[in-house]
Amino acid sequence: MQLDFNNMLRERIGEQGIPVDAIQKLAYPIAKANKAMVEKRYVGKMAWRDLPYNQNEVVKDILKYVEEMKNEIDAFVVLGIGGSALGPISVQQALNHPFYNELPREKRGGYPKLYVLDNVDPERLVYFFQAVDPTRCLYNVISKSGSTSETMSQFMIVQQMLEEKLGKENAKKLIVCTTDAESGNLITIAKTEGYKNFIIPSAVGGRFSELTPVGLLPAAFCGIDIKGLLEGAAQMDAICKDGEIDIHKNPPYMFALLHYIAMTMGKNITVLMPYADSLKFISDWFAQLWAESLGKQYNNEGEVVSVGQTPVKALGATDQHSQVQLYAEGPYDKIIVFLGVDEYRETITIPKTYSDMPSLGFLGGVTHNELIKTMQAATEYALTKAGRLNMTITVPKVTPQTVGQLLYFFEVATAYAGELLNIDAFDQPGVEEGKNATYAMFGRPGYEDKRAELDAAPAKDKKYII
Ligand code: PA5
Repeated sequence: MQLDFNNMLRERIGEQGIPVDAIQKLAYPIAKANKAMVEKRYVGKMAWRDLPYNQNEVVKDILKYVEEMKNEIDAFVVLGIGGSALGPISVQQALNHPFYNELPREKRGGYPKLYVLDNVDPERLVYFFQAVDPTRCLYNVISKSGSTSETMSQFMIVQQMLEEKLGKENAKKLIVCTTDAESGNLITIAKTEGYKNFIIPSAVGGRFSELTPVGLLPAAFCGIDIKGLLEGAAQMDAICKDGEIDIHKNPPYMFALLHYIAMTMGKNITVLMPYADSLKFISDWFAQLWAESLGKQYNNEGEVVSVGQTPVKALGATDQHSQVQLYAEGPYDKIIVFLGVDEYRETITIPKTYSDMPSLGFLGGVTHNELIKTMQAATEYALTKAGRLNMTITVPKVTPQTVGQLLYFFEVATAYAGELLNIDAFDQPGVEEGKNATYAMFGRPGYEDKRAELDAAPAKDKKYII
């Protein structure tokens, strides 16, 4: 993997760029952030960093369970949301056939289909039950907290449906829980009902949990090489050595630092734009990671800072035809991060059908591989010429190892950006507020004060509803 940040610098893109000496000037915050990364890891506050190394038994258990169950089911269904859904979606999209579910079973290596139901839109479950035989699915209820309303409500609906159709004993085999070992309702339910369960280490937060059974179990059920994913993460960990004082040798730290400097220059948006369909959902996963981790009102000293950067998901070349006009000519408020691939897994050549028509003929004999890479290079050129901050991450090929590297890269970068911003990248008080308000609105016991607070809020003025 490679990070090219030439086009972030003033000497390349002009006055909107980052002066190269800005990096040297930040020696103190960089050293402070480096130290915090080492100390926090040491005291177990970054337990997700050890996941590439401490899951041999978990992986064995997962692979054994997959062998036991895969022929019993048509589909593996994730019930989860946020950090309990975006990782499984992005890894599946990255590493499996893009039309995986449409392939006949033998072309899926004998593995079941995968569905991720990450919302409580009432139409979703109803239509899902119409589209599959719901009694031939294994439902993976994923919730770190074990109490998220969206996921738990889906679980209760599925449980009732299975028990009605199959009886309690048979239903039991079709539910597997992934949750914390102790806290929350889900582990209690799993133990009481006798459901198979996998554990999310308690010190690993939702959006940093893709390399736990949250992501490994769904991936393994689709035949993805989960050992390869973990190997890739370990490779990235070796690249971004803790305490590496030369930030030029630490790509995720440099990614974070450049974003941090750009934020201080008013660049409040970062666009992650893969030029590969396979990496499209890595942008979704990254958007949650960057937004929820860095969007904070208070710093570590409790002062109001209201920091963060809005992540935008884009896809090249598709979004050249919808967003790039804005990026090239709109406000100077964003960074565009291209995510490119050296070698695509397939090659397709454009026929020389219209060689007598110059405006089409130039395409004849060109591969889509060359076309998409040229479009990426041309867009990079155009944005650079327009003085827009951009950088490029390139992976040699999309494999379990490089996907593991990418996931780990973005996790480390996010944590490091949190240190530079002097905020807690691992909490999400803004999300909790919405969850608590939901509980209060439904009259959940223990939320009476929140209910009173909601009742006391001023009513909306009808004259502004038209
Ligand atoms: O990153 C986070 O902690 C959140 O986005 C959670 O993943 C999300 O809210 C779902 O939570 P849970 O896994 O507890 O159901």
